[in-house]
Amino acid sequence: MAEGQRRLVAVSNRVGPLNDEGKAGGLAVGLSDALRRRGGLWFGWSGETSDEGTFKEAQTQVQGEVSMTTIDMTEEELEGFYYGYANRSLWPLLHYRLDLAHFDRQSERAYRSVNQRFAARLAPLIEDEDLVWVHDYHFFFLGSELRQSGFKGKIGFFLHIPFCPPEIFTALPASHDLVRAMLAYDVVGFQTDTDRRNFVGFCLRELGGEKLEGHRVRVGDRVVRADTFPIGIDAPGFERFAVSPEASEHEEMLREIAGDRLQIVGVDRMDYSKGLVERFRGFERLLEDYPENRGKVQFLQVAPLSRSELDAYVELRRELEELAGHINGRFATLDWTPIQIMTRGFTRRALAGIYRAARVCLVTPLRDGMNLVAKEFVAAQDPDDPGVLVLSRFAGARAELPDALIVNPYSTDDVARALQRALTMPFDERDRRWRAMREAVFAGPSSNWCDAFLGALENSGVD
Ligand code: ADP
Ligand code: F6P
Repeated sequence: MAEGQRRLVAVSNRVGPLNDEGKAGGLAVGLSDALRRRGGLWFGWSGETSDEGTFKEAQTQVQGEVSMTTIDMTEEELEGFYYGYANRSLWPLLHYRLDLAHFDRQSERAYRSVNQRFAARLAPLIEDEDLVWVHDYHFFFLGSELRQSGFKGKIGFFLHIPFCPPEIFTALPASHDLVRAMLAYDVVGFQTDTDRRNFVGFCLRELGGEKLEGHRVRVGDRVVRADTFPIGIDAPGFERFAVSPEASEHEEMLREIAGDRLQIVGVDRMDYSKGLVERFRGFERLLEDYPENRGKVQFLQVAPLSRSELDAYVELRRELEELAGHINGRFATLDWTPIQIMTRGFTRRALAGIYRAARVCLVTPLRDGMNLVAKEFVAAQDPDDPGVLVLSRFAGARAELPDALIVNPYSTDDVARALQRALTMPFDERDRRWRAMREAVFAGPSSNWCDAFLGALENSGVD
């Protein structure tokens, strides 16, 4: 921590790792980059359950300037808070999937009580001079709980995932309570202007709020700054990863296996928001409509398992494996397997090598807060032979990366056409598009995510 700087206290459900271990999830990656640079306290869940979770001592691990303090949950808490409310109610809803959202009062109770308990355990560890920064949809109520316990310092909140339009959000039985609780924060940050507008729209339409200058909203006697802070990656660091020995080993291995074939990759947690089924169909359509690609391209989908206890995720895995089998069965030859799916984790260095070996990266979520994979792919490219990014119009990253090939992920034809265009793109166009994207990833607004948010938090309430 630099002299005179306030201590950063970050709060999120997942905590760590600070190193390059394979851990899929944009929040863990974004926050560990930020904490490594600035130091501070990172508080959240240990990843463990125990019968005495509620009372057990917090565990603290210190690495350099960062202390990571975590507490356990009980099995019931994990079920109601994490699997129930966070991932069966809020996740689908905020990703515009009302059809997949379930609401029940037990999990809502568990969610509120975990927010309260985490706030109570955090309160003795913080001072009013700290900058407290709460992350993501697991902890909408944590700020208001901290306020009730008497905390007077600055508290900010950042939502890593989308905020859906008010017409959808009002389906959540506790929608009013939840947004009112968000007003306890001094700054609430979103990935894109669309998310910010949806939140502000809810405050105006549903809670009778009014817009003030400086991206502020007033509801009753509360004024909160609601602003956009797109998250980025440590681009120079990732670029270095891409030329590390571990990356080169993976890059070479993949190039050797591919031979003359062009490599297409996708890297996503196995989640229905990522549009994987639609992507596989798009690849199948490529082989159908542009048969010259048969035997000439190969598609590797890295898809680490995520939340695999939930039915929707079990069903997705089944569907993807079936579809990959169907595509291979239909097009494979003795010496060519068109599509491969891998569920294992990789270190980020290894991933960087995989991105670098690819001619095309498919990032086609049906809805995504930002999508760091898109930015990592850009940072990892070989300047002498850069690849092409095919990017969904529904990924937050689209705002900063208009030079990608933008697709509608729901349209099988559109995905197939974009793939064909990417695979046949002349070097000059590939180079021009990649340079523009590189500039955005290295020097655009997201290259400064942590400082921009904390600057806004520090200045909040100062007119
Ligand atoms: P989300 O937060 O929804 O998972 P993002 O694309 O924003 O989506 O972030 C995913 C992060 O997880 C990226 O930084 C990516 O490198 C990392 N990741 C994805 N797959 C793997 C994997 N197999 N092993 C390790 N890290 C992974
Ligand atoms: O970035 C979105 C996010 O949902 C994070 O909040 C979360 O930590 C990550 O993806 C992975 O999901 P989970 O924590 O449920 O494994």
